[in-house]
Amino acid sequence: MTDLVAIARSFFAHGKGILAADESVHTATTRLASYGISASAEMRRQYRDLFFGAEGIEQYLSGVILFPETLLEKGSDKKLFSRSLAARGIVPGVKVDLGTEPFPSSPDELITQGLFDLPERLAAYKKQGAIFTKWRAVIRIDGDQLPSAQALHENAKRLASYAKESQIAGLVPILEPDVLLEGNHSRTRARAVVEETLEMLFSVLDEQSVDRASIILKTAMALSGESSGKKDAPEEVAEDTIAALLKCVPRQIAGVVFLSGGQTPNQATDNLSAICRLSRAQEGTIPWPLTFSYSRALQEEALTIWKGEEENVVDARAAFLARLSKVSSAVSGT
Ligand code: G3H
Repeated sequence: MTDLVAIARSFFAHGKGILAADESVHTATTRLASYGISASAEMRRQYRDLFFGAEGIEQYLSGVILFPETLLEKGSDKKLFSRSLAARGIVPGVKVDLGTEPFPSSPDELITQGLFDLPERLAAYKKQGAIFTKWRAVIRIDGDQLPSAQALHENAKRLASYAKESQIAGLVPILEPDVLLEGNHSRTRARAVVEETLEMLFSVLDEQSVDRASIILKTAMALSGESSGKKDAPEEVAEDTIAALLKCVPRQIAGVVFLSGGQTPNQATDNLSAICRLSRAQEGTIPWPLTFSYSRALQEEALTIWKGEEENVVDARAAFLARLSKVSSAVSGT
């Protein structure tokens, strides 16, 4: 087994998963503002420290995805975040895409940027302590019109080029084609789009000869659109999500992680729990390990308590650990 494969598999250690803490400056600013916190660079550093500095996170976390600026920052212990995470057995990684821009051939859709200087940036991130990387593509559903085949293809090509460069640089790639929850589509439509997206992705990965064994897929679940008025039962989500994965994802990849994508913490926990239960019930037919790579669903409760105030840090961290414990149990079935 190559080092990359061993690292990729290590993220799926029993009951552990990945914290996505790779919000861009823009996203972090908007998120903090929604909790009444005005985000300076120092406030963003404290935001990261709130989560990374919580004692005991290593029981639940195998990895953390960082934003590039955070790779260079220190926690309240005066140590680089990447070093203090690694010292606790939590593998640090970094988001390497540079966000999205409208797709010229279909301007209501987005394509992800960041291939231009990627090899140089990957070499720099590796020196700064990153062990893995992530690239997010955004797939929007609008009735039967979107996503267009061209946008799916362009995003898949870019994900594949990124994955290849990351492997060449000796960094495990996490490929995130994020099928958005926004919209009024049905769960059946979401499942069809997840399937279309993954079929396109894996065919392009093969065309570009990307090594399957060291890649991790980060996917959305098959969920009814948030403005559809429909509330899916976790068992329905599990059935459609697992069916889509079984149809489209080759057995050789290192594993599958789920994003929370705007679900509430409880929904993201209950849906994950149902997915993992179904996977255990179908033992032998589900070829990859499964776990979480959540951002919003892990952070929400802690941020509500924190409000940017030092005096709330202890309680906010306790809420974060409580949610981590629930999400971890969802994966391990305990
Ligand atoms: O890029 C998005 C994050 O990696 C996942 O975030 O769990 O809030 O969807 P989320």
